[in-house]
Amino acid sequence: MPGTCVIGLQWGDEAKGKLVDILTEDHEIVVRYQGGANAGHTVVSGGQTWKLSLIPSGILRDGVACIVTGGVVLDPASVIKEIDGLESRGVRIDGKLQLSDRAHVVFPWHVAEDRILDGSLSGGEAIGTTGRGIGPCYRDKVGRSLAIRLGDLYRDDFAAKVAHIVDFKNRLLAAWQGTGTAAVTLDAAEILAQYRGYADRLRPFVSDTTGYLLDAVEAGKRLLFEGAQGALLDIDHGTFPYVTSSNSSGVGVASGSGVPGRWIDRVIGVVKAYSTRVGGGPLPTEQDNAVGLHLRERGREYGTVTMRPRRCGWFDAVAARYTARLSGVDELAVMLLDVLGGLDELRICSAYEIDGRRVEHFPSQIDDLRKAVPVYETLPGWPEELADVRDYDSLPAAAKRYLARIEELLGRPVSIVSVGPDREQTIFCERPAREHRAWPRPQPRTPANA
Ligand code: IMP
Repeated sequence: MPGTCVIGLQWGDEAKGKLVDILTEDHEIVVRYQGGANAGHTVVSGGQTWKLSLIPSGILRDGVACIVTGGVVLDPASVIKEIDGLESRGVRIDGKLQLSDRAHVVFPWHVAEDRILDGSLSGGEAIGTTGRGIGPCYRDKVGRSLAIRLGDLYRDDFAAKVAHIVDFKNRLLAAWQGTGTAAVTLDAAEILAQYRGYADRLRPFVSDTTGYLLDAVEAGKRLLFEGAQGALLDIDHGTFPYVTSSNSSGVGVASGSGVPGRWIDRVIGVVKAYSTRVGGGPLPTEQDNAVGLHLRERGREYGTVTMRPRRCGWFDAVAARYTARLSGVDELAVMLLDVLGGLDELRICSAYEIDGRRVEHFPSQIDDLRKAVPVYETLPGWPEELADVRDYDSLPAAAKRYLARIEELLGRPVSIVSVGPDREQTIFCERPAREHRAWPRPQPRTPANA
């Protein structure tokens, strides 16, 4: 079967971009299927650093098709900036990039709404969005009447649509003013001219990616699905309301790409060796102390898109076990293991205490998560630098023990370990397979149970 998925199991920023870049070697098509320009990943390749947001990192390799599907919300200015940046550094885009005509388009009104509405949760708390208009664009998609898809930019009624929506949105924005944000008035003619320019520039890349991908899987092509954000930010299954607006766990692959799950045979769950989060919402294992500082500075934990310092804490196995199950994960990639070097002892959260009760499942309600007190296991740390380690056997005994405990708690084997940003700083664990598949596996389809 042709499909591999890379899914972040935490709150995003698990260094999925590096992994996708490595795995691209064995795939013909890389697919980005949800989220938008809120995501950012850094790839170090050929001694150069690349910062990408919407365009899959597969674009750095020849012979790989990069597909942005209809599940994505697309900010044309941001895509064009990425295309220009890549082309100016000699990366060929033509014939490699396809953007779905079904993708919903981010407009200035979405960005304005995002800025006004973030911070308007009852109680005055902020979700802490990236301010890229992602939530408002998805809201219009679901609401339908004020939505514009990429394919609509080429239709005769585009100008009328923009005029209608701008009139509506100006009244909406005026009504929402007074919450401390500057007044915004949109100009339909200006927006139309701007987006017509974007449409001309993007025309060569726009296609029916759903049809393309269905043809590809049926022809046996190998596809790599690149998840954005992390499963705990999933709109339906994450830490609502402190989530993004798409299905960022494994459940979003089929709906976002249009490729049925039966074509996917390998799901890699990506975790950092510790936890981070940007924006609001509970992070039960957060360390607002010297440990948190160690993780932030050694891990360079600052947002790729917003440069915000990330909140840092110990590895949360309760949360990652939940998202590994939710995403149907087969194997784990543990990233940034080197960052833990130099800490005397390490902690892993293996349960929560909520209202005095020990709980091993991840709570569905944010209030319970807020009350969760981590129950920690303490493991020995290691003083060695791991940056030059290239095989599993050469890892310090304490690092192997740490990985083994993650495997046990999540019930999945660790197949990949990352010890630095470079492609070469990656360990593929070639150990005798241990029996990790203790979790219930779906029965193979047979005529009797199909
Ligand atoms: P939005 O996706 O901009 O609406 O932001 C919603 C929440 O998701 C905020 O807490 C953001 O910080 C978070 N978020 C969105 N994209 C990313 C990402 O790529 N990495 C980490 N957090 C993200």
